[in-house]
Amino acid sequence: MKYSSFSSRSNGEQGANGEQATSGERGARQAGIISLCFAALGGLTLALLLSLVEPSAAQPDGATEPARFSARVGHAVRSLMEPGRSAPGAFPSNVTNPQDAENPAARIHPEFALSHDELVDLLQNAPDSIRKRIGNEAPAFLQAAKPLLDPQQAELLMLVDRDHPLPSAYRPADLVPMLDFDERITGAAPQARIDRRAATALAEMQEAARADGVELQPWWAYRSYREQEELHAHWRNEAGEEAAHRFSAAAGHSEHQLGTAIDFAPIGREFHGTPSDRWLSENAWRYGFSLSYPEGKEEITGYMHEGWHYRYLGRKAVELKREYFEGLQQHMLEFLYPALPHLRAAHEDSPNPYSPKAF
Ligand code: DAL
Ligand code: ZN
Repeated sequence: MKYSSFSSRSNGEQGANGEQATSGERGARQAGIISLCFAALGGLTLALLLSLVEPSAAQPDGATEPARFSARVGHAVRSLMEPGRSAPGAFPSNVTNPQDAENPAARIHPEFALSHDELVDLLQNAPDSIRKRIGNEAPAFLQAAKPLLDPQQAELLMLVDRDHPLPSAYRPADLVPMLDFDERITGAAPQARIDRRAATALAEMQEAARADGVELQPWWAYRSYREQEELHAHWRNEAGEEAAHRFSAAAGHSEHQLGTAIDFAPIGREFHGTPSDRWLSENAWRYGFSLSYPEGKEEITGYMHEGWHYRYLGRKAVELKREYFEGLQQHMLEFLYPALPHLRAAHEDSPNPYSPKAF
């Protein structure tokens, strides 16, 4: 997805399971949540929030069309494949060769009721290079994607960007205090909270960094819708609307609302080039953390380079990102957002809460 114009556009709020809410539902939720947000804020001051994000120069943002599932582009995409390329070494011998043009509707992985064309249909909005890579290694790709089908992981993989907001009432189910959760986590703000899964990985990561002589400072993680709204309003006043949109997400559009995104101190440009920056760049993936806004990718992610902002996706997801999505979280989540329900439905062992078998 390219971000090339300034105005932010929402296509509807995204529920915890990725569905879109109606404007009526949104209105009702927003009205109901306002009082909750005030209560939840408690003693948290705006002054504390204002220390969380460092302003920077302006960058236009905007949006293009949302991802859609369609069966129309299979042949066009297949023509992008490299016909002479052989399957990788890990290619399972008991599945259909994806290069077999004589048999395009054949199943490409024994556990997925999915043809090669159906898989590449799901990739229709991905860049050509990614479609080619996955199309050429379809069985290995499905094998690597299998661990992500677990519905328990759905929120870890949720797409939250300029086009895909969370409901204003969305709050992670299991938030823990960053400081009291594990003694290996240090350097956090006293009130900071974080998703339990991210905290578990963070404790391991901080221990590993410390063993390498680097003291990470995970300053902040979860921000409520209301907190993000106040922070974003502050930056709009401070830096101007256009500049603020380059580095500050509007309420509902921040990964911090998921509870799995962490800002490491010092927050802002001064982070770049620090030992923490270098260590995280090299090692964060091992612990399941992903750099959301890499350098030089503003047109794709919608935000300037934020070397201090890492999101916990889980190790398997980060491996998939590195292997098949050119290291870009945005590309992977834009694919997974519409594709995961189809992949779950096609995977015969996936628990499906809507299956008649469940009743
Ligand atoms: N700084 C990031 C984009 C946020 O506000 O969530
Ligand atoms: Zn951040």
